[in-house]
Amino acid sequence: RVKLAVIGGGSTYTPELIDGFARLRDVLPLEELVLVDPDAGRLAVVGGLARRIFARQGHPGRISWTGDLDAGIDGADAVLLQLRVGGQAARLQDETWPLECGCVGQETTGAGGLAKALRTVPVVLDIAERVRRRNPGAWLVDFTNPVGIVTRALLTHGHRAVGLCNVAIGLQRTFAALLGVPPDRVELDHLGLNHLTWERAVRVAGEDLLPRLLAEHGDSLAGKLRLPRPLLDHLGVIPSYYLRYYYRHDAVVRELRTEPPRAAQVAALEQQLLGMYGDPSLDEKPELLSRRGGAYYSEAAVALTSALLGGAGGTQVVNTRNDGTLPFLPDDAVIEAPATVGPPGAAPLPARPLEPLFAGLVSHVTTYEHLALDAALLGRTGRKTGRADGRRAVFSALLAHPLIGQSDHADRLADELIAHNREHLPWA
Ligand code: G6P
Ligand code: MN
Repeated sequence: RVKLAVIGGGSTYTPELIDGFARLRDVLPLEELVLVDPDAGRLAVVGGLARRIFARQGHPGRISWTGDLDAGIDGADAVLLQLRVGGQAARLQDETWPLECGCVGQETTGAGGLAKALRTVPVVLDIAERVRRRNPGAWLVDFTNPVGIVTRALLTHGHRAVGLCNVAIGLQRTFAALLGVPPDRVELDHLGLNHLTWERAVRVAGEDLLPRLLAEHGDSLAGKLRLPRPLLDHLGVIPSYYLRYYYRHDAVVRELRTEPPRAAQVAALEQQLLGMYGDPSLDEKPELLSRRGGAYYSEAAVALTSALLGGAGGTQVVNTRNDGTLPFLPDDAVIEAPATVGPPGAAPLPARPLEPLFAGLVSHVTTYEHLALDAALLGRTGRKTGRADGRRAVFSALLAHPLIGQSDHADRLADELIAHNREHLPWA
């Protein structure tokens, strides 16, 4: 008998989550689900569909919604964070202004990802404080990007939190289909940071089938990841599609300059989805939702939440404290790795040493993430940060990012970031 609260419950993604709760009710027996969101209009539309999905699937759980955070989290065993500060409009900016410097414009990587971290960390920490005050035992499950930085913010402030992303579960599903086996038989040797990971082995019944996947399906995998086939053969591992922003940075920038930004595509899709959700005869998640990037996130969420609350545990890929797993990173760095998950939390499994080709990038990006978090914490209310100190912290984080690095770019991007995010930065 579990009560969950979903912060950002008015998201167009929510029906995916609800569908997962309905299908997987034996894994996570939900008694009550509260959707919390500041947008009352969206809440009513999304909440209405959520109730119809439960009713159609005969799920006995109660679904309600509120704009009042404290009321919504009251008595919750776990709180799922899936909010987006500033909505798709802010994301559109993150994807656009970095391009002017010839740098990638992306919501979680590079300067755009830093902007998102600065907007998001103070809001998430504020929510986490309120959860702790009301419900000290509750778990926080964070999907809010940038997941690595947000999870580190939560853990360094003593919260009970685990970060989650769907990249690993998505690859597990892809590999399972290619190999013709059920997904739960596929075990990944997945390691790195959120949105900076490599699959170093793909085991089925103890046997590593990664060489076979590369030999037999290398072209289709390369096409899906939008990376050159010879690069996959050279690496001998399967990188996540976010590595494309590193391995093909300049080519991606050229593409991004001609394509419509992803935020604009998503905003159009969201309008269409909300139109469909408002139809009282719709009682399942529409196929159109699969055009969003979050496929299978409900399955990962159900499995993780259930394990944290004492259900069937086991190994899951999550974002959690390094604690020596990657010995070249600080213990309190947040890594993305297979971990044993249960009521005490998530503990990464011991890992084979990370190859130098990957370890260098992981180390570099971890340092960026730490400086990004330092900069983001200056935006907490109650802090007296001056404009010069705020800008200096932003400049340092940009200079530390492997995709930026040059001082003239970092200078210009710092100004752009501040100009486009002033309303979210109390010091600016
Ligand atoms: C994947 C990533 C998420 C990201 C999403 C973007 O699922 O793991 O972290 O939020 O893609 O999808 P979208 O449809 O918003 O572009
Ligand atoms: Mn993700």
